[in-house]
Amino acid sequence: MGYVKNSLLFMLVICACHGQLVDRVFPTLAASTRELTNILTGQPLIAAVAKAAGDIFAGTLNNFSRIPVAVARTIGYHGSPSIINERNLFGPSSDRILTEYKAGLGNEDTILSIGELIVKYGYPLEEHDVVTEDGYILKMFRIPRNGSVVLLMHGLFGGADDYVIAGPKSGLAYLLANDGYDVWLGNARGNKHSRRHVSLQPSEAVFWDFSWHEIGSYDLPAMIDYSLGKTNKNSLYYIGHSQGTTTFFVMASQRPEYNQKVALMIALSPNAYMTEVKSPFVRLFAPGTPLIHAVLKIFGVYEFPSDNILLRILRTLVCGLGPLSELLCSNVLMLSVGIGFAEMNATNLPVIYSHEPSGAAVKQVAHYGQEFVSGEFQQYDYGAEMNLKKYGQEVPPSYPLEKITAPVSLFYSDSDWMAHPDDVDKLYNRLPNCIDIYKIPRKQFNHLDFIWAKHFKSIIYNRVRKLLRAFSTN
Ligand SMILES: *[C@@H]1O[C@H](CO)[C@@H](O)[C@H](O)[C@H]1NC(C)=O
Ligand SMILES: *[C@@H]1O[C@H](CO)[C@@H](O)[C@H](O)[C@H]1NC(C)=O
Ligand SMILES: *[C@@H]1O[C@H](CO)[C@@H](O)[C@H](O)[C@H]1NC(C)=O
Repeated sequence: MGYVKNSLLFMLVICACHGQLVDRVFPTLAASTRELTNILTGQPLIAAVAKAAGDIFAGTLNNFSRIPVAVARTIGYHGSPSIINERNLFGPSSDRILTEYKAGLGNEDTILSIGELIVKYGYPLEEHDVVTEDGYILKMFRIPRNGSVVLLMHGLFGGADDYVIAGPKSGLAYLLANDGYDVWLGNARGNKHSRRHVSLQPSEAVFWDFSWHEIGSYDLPAMIDYSLGKTNKNSLYYIGHSQGTTTFFVMASQRPEYNQKVALMIALSPNAYMTEVKSPFVRLFAPGTPLIHAVLKIFGVYEFPSDNILLRILRTLVCGLGPLSELLCSNVLMLSVGIGFAEMNATNLPVIYSHEPSGAAVKQVAHYGQEFVSGEFQQYDYGAEMNLKKYGQEVPPSYPLEKITAPVSLFYSDSDWMAHPDDVDKLYNRLPNCIDIYKIPRKQFNHLDFIWAKHFKSIIYNRVRKLLRAFSTN
C-alpha cells in the first residue's frame, strides 16, 4: 500500500516534469492534493518516499540533463535560464566552477561568524538587541562610522551576513564603511540571529506565525527607530535586497509616518508584484499546488526547513542530479532564487554556504506564492471567511503604494528569477516618488548577483554611492 502511494506521488512529480504548461498541470495536481498530503504526512513514510524518489528517478530517467529542461518548460520558463541549461550543467563551465569551488573549500571564513569576519577584516563592530512592538528580539550588527546611517536589510532566507560574506572587496557593508557611512545591518524575526522573543520560543508554532508583512510592519520600524535613536539622527538611508525591498514597501505604505525617516531607499531587485516570477520554487509553493498544501500541513506556520525530503525532491526537479546541480541547488537559498554563472564567485561559494540560508517562516514563502497567483501586492490571504474576520473583506487588502513618499531607486535586471522586468515596471508606475530606475546592462545578471557579483563594486556600488550623495540625511 505504502509503495502504491509512493508511486502515485512520483507519478505526479514526473507528470509535472513532462513539459506541459503549468496551468494545465497544476489543476490536475491540485485535485490530488488530499491524496498527496496523506502520503506525505503518513509518519515514517517520508523516509520511504525519499528512497522511492531516488529509485524511481534513477530507474526511469537515465539522462538527468533532460529533467531541468523539462521542468523549465513545465513552469513556462522561456528566458535565458541560468541553472536550467544543459550547457551550464554539462559544458566546460561546469568544470571551471567545480575547480574554483574546490579551491575555496579551505577558506577560514567558512568557520567565522559574521562578527568575527567584520573584526578579521579590520572594521569596528557593535551588536545591538532591538525589541519589536510584538515582542521579537532582533539582532543588529553595526560598523560604526561618523557619517550618515545606512540600514541594510537582507532578502528571503538571508541575514546580515548577506552584506558581509562577499568579502572586503565586494561586501556592501565594507564598501559603505570605507566611504564613512555608519552601517547598520538588520535581521528579520526568525532568522538565525533573531530567533528570540520576550515570551515565545522558536519551538512553538505561534513564534513562526508571520510573513514579510509582519517584518515590514514591526521589525523595520523598530530597527529604524532604534538606529536613529542611538545616533541622534532624524533620517537614514535604507538599502534592501529582494525581501528587504518587499518589507520596505510594506512598512512605507502601512505606516506612512516612516517615510520621513528615510532620506532615500535603494531597492536591489525589487520584489512586490510577482506575476512573472521565474523561481520554480515560488511557483511550486503557490496556493493550489500540492507542495504548499503538504508543507503547510506538515509544518503548519512553522520554520522553513533547510533540508528535508520535499526540498530534495524539489532540488531534483529543478536542477537534475549532476555534480554541479548537487553543488548549486543543495542550498535552499540558491534553489529558490537561482544562480547565474557570469558574475558568480565560485571560490566564495563555500563561505556563502556556511552562512546561508539563515532561516525563514513557511508563511514568508507562501505569501510570495500568493502574489504570483493573485497578481496583486496584498496582505496574506487566509481564505475568504478568515479574511472577512481579519480584514473586514473577503479579499486581502492591497498595500497602498501611493502612500510611499520616500524617494525610491530601483535596480533590476533581465535574468533575475525573482524580479521580472514587467513586474518591476508595474511597481515603478505605482510608486509616487521613484527617482531612479536602472536596469543592469548585463544579459546574465541574477538575483544573488545584486549582493554577491564578482564586479559588485563597478556594477552596483558606484551607482549606489552616487545616489546616496545626491540625497542628504538629517
Ligand atoms: C543526454 O542528453 C544530452 C543532450 O540531449 C546528449 O548530448 C547526451 O548524449 C545524452 N547522454 C546520454 C548518456 O544519453
Ligand atoms: C569623521 O569623518 C571625517 C570625514 O569623513 C573624518 O575626517 C574625521 O576624522 C571623522 N571623525 C571621527 C571622530 O571619526
Ligand atoms: C572571490 O572569493 C574569494 C574567496 O572568498 C575572495 O578571496 C575574492 O576576493 C573574491 N573576489 C571578489 C572579486 O570579491
